[in-house]
Amino acid sequence: MTARNHPVDPAPGGMKLIVAIDGPAGAGKSTVARQLAKRFGLLNLETGAMYRAFALKALRLEVPLSDAKALEQLSEDTVIRLETGETENRVLLDEEDVTGLIRNPEVTDAASRVSVFPSIRAWMVRLQQRMGEDGGVVMEGRDIGTVVFPQAEVKIFLDAAPEVRGMRRFDQLGPGATVQPEEVLRDLRARDERDRNRADSPLKPAPDAILLDSTRMTLDEVVQAAESIVEARLHALSAR
Ligand code: DC
Repeated sequence: MTARNHPVDPAPGGMKLIVAIDGPAGAGKSTVARQLAKRFGLLNLETGAMYRAFALKALRLEVPLSDAKALEQLSEDTVIRLETGETENRVLLDEEDVTGLIRNPEVTDAASRVSVFPSIRAWMVRLQQRMGEDGGVVMEGRDIGTVVFPQAEVKIFLDAAPEVRGMRRFDQLGPGATVQPEEVLRDLRARDERDRNRADSPLKPAPDAILLDSTRMTLDEVVQAAESIVEARLHALSAR
């Protein structure tokens, strides 16, 4: 479970806000979630990191990524925890800090593969619901507003054109990048395809989510727009 160390409760009437941020890779979710957490005194919980940690374990133990039963058995013997840090979540896999090991292309691809299985999703959703049950969180992922917290007070669905998201991802790799932008875009499209078309909890906006298309926005502008959405919601809630 996550350390609940945030001092501020900015929501009216002592209500502990839940902010759900969903969207595809490279849409700016992490930046937005981090800034909202800072600004409104919320815990920032990055659910993708949990799927990534589990994928890392499957890769290490050479469990086939298409074997639902074997993955389910593996999950029964796995403990994943998120701890909030200054800039990002620390991810603990069976108490080992794997934060620095889960962002490479192999784990990225594997995370998308293991996340299609209902038993894996049900397990993750339970963990995530427990982490956020007291509110005061901004939770980022693919199914937060639709499945994990359909009752979230604020739901933002962040999107952008694939080419723009691919370039953002490429830029994040920095000067040491060993892949071409086209490769990054190809992988991102493949992952999009899988995340959006899986049978269980596909990536899609909740009916009551606010859509934010960041294709023509800088990340600063996206953050500002998201802050305005949360402020407006807090205002509406305090006027009740
Ligand atoms: O957000 P991310 O790129 O770190 O997520 C990695 C993979 O995990 C993503 O391809 C799909 C899966 N995922 C998911 O299915 N549901 C979530 N709530 C978060 C991530």
